[in-house]
Amino acid sequence: MANVSLQHIKKVYPNSETKKKKKGEPEKKSNLQITEEGVLAVQDFNLEISDREFIVLVGPSGCGKSTTLRMVAGLEDISGGDLLIDGKRMNDVEPKDRDIAMVFQSYALYPHMTVRENMEFPLKLRKMPKDEIDRRVNQAAETLGITEYMDRKPKALSGGQRQRVAIGRAIVREPKVLLMDEPLSNLDAKLRNQMRAEILKLRQRINSTFIYVTHDQTEAMTLGDRIVIMKDGVIQQIGTPQEVFDHPANLFVAGFIGVPQMNFFDAELVKKDGKYAVELGGVSVAISDEKQANLEKNGVQPQAITLGVRPEHIALLGDGAQMLHGTVDVSEMMGSAIHLHVTSQGKDVIIIVQTMDLRGPNQVSITSGQDIAFTFGGNVVHLFDRETGKNLEA
Ligand SMILES: Nc1ncnc2c1ncn2[C@@H]1O[C@H](COP(=O)(O)OP(=O)(O)OP(=O)(O)O)[C@@H](O)[C@H]1O
Ligand SMILES: [Mg+2]
Repeated sequence: MANVSLQHIKKVYPNSETKKKKKGEPEKKSNLQITEEGVLAVQDFNLEISDREFIVLVGPSGCGKSTTLRMVAGLEDISGGDLLIDGKRMNDVEPKDRDIAMVFQSYALYPHMTVRENMEFPLKLRKMPKDEIDRRVNQAAETLGITEYMDRKPKALSGGQRQRVAIGRAIVREPKVLLMDEPLSNLDAKLRNQMRAEILKLRQRINSTFIYVTHDQTEAMTLGDRIVIMKDGVIQQIGTPQEVFDHPANLFVAGFIGVPQMNFFDAELVKKDGKYAVELGGVSVAISDEKQANLEKNGVQPQAITLGVRPEHIALLGDGAQMLHGTVDVSEMMGSAIHLHVTSQGKDVIIIVQTMDLRGPNQVSITSGQDIAFTFGGNVVHLFDRETGKNLEA
């Protein structure tokens, strides 16, 4: 049981001299801010985590997820700000005294110990009575379905089984806070899905607060009560999976959350007879009432915008004149849907067409090179400032 509060947390690494870039080496992707202090790996990180909440930190490589987690664990010094657990400042508390357990991507099991010994180890360190150790280890083994491997060494286990042991070793401590850094990324796709479901079940059975790091947006969406999306050491948005999907705070979040990615168009936001509309490709789309109100509230002026529309919100069948046009580059058959890659308005556009609906199979036969017409409603558009990328409704 624990709430965790991160207040203006900052991490500065010394600015090691930039190595000479070798020829042909790719450009460094991260754009961390550099000040006199050094490299800002995490900036002004603010988050109030409730007791038993499941928080997921997500973002591209190098955005500061692990650094943030390691600061919570005490494996990394906090350069600025306050970390509180149940109201107590933890910045200078030793890792072992924080009542936190961490599961790493690499499992980090002791190879010379059996599964049981691996799981007992943190409890023996704490000089817990033998019968309490047995009770906890057996219960964790049961929870994770590893009872039959208890006498094996880690090398005699599959990746998924090892990962379960690593999680088992963390939960036997019944920690207030359970930290996980990409625990599933060494597993194949099928096992990942399975373990994702296992983690969801686990969280219902134990009382810990979870902070989970991943770069996989699907994992973030399916596991998190709330998701924290980071880029270049800066939080971009915090919200429930539905909130960040429906109302992305900016272009980055819009592009990061959702598969396939949201489509982006250059468009004009105009106002006619006091009502907002978007214009592109000679077509005008009236904005829904709810969105009108949000734009009014923010006093948004007509301007050049980046228009976002999710692939699943585009329809191929519309009525007549108000259609956008494009040419199909490729058509990917996914079984329940077809993903069309289309060139339109000088952009790559992805359109999802369901192959089956409630009325039965959809008669879609679309081939490469074919010209198509498509449309979308004024209730599914996302409007971003062309310069700043900020959501104009936010
Ligand atoms: N000891 C260090 N000294 C200097 N810079 C560091 C150090 N450790 C990490 N960094 C930098 O801090 C940034 C954040 O690193 P971090 O490991 O937190 O990223 P991440 O979001 O976990 O990425 P990944 O998904 O690749 O694990 C990176 O740009 C990294 O290069
Ligand atoms: Mg990391």
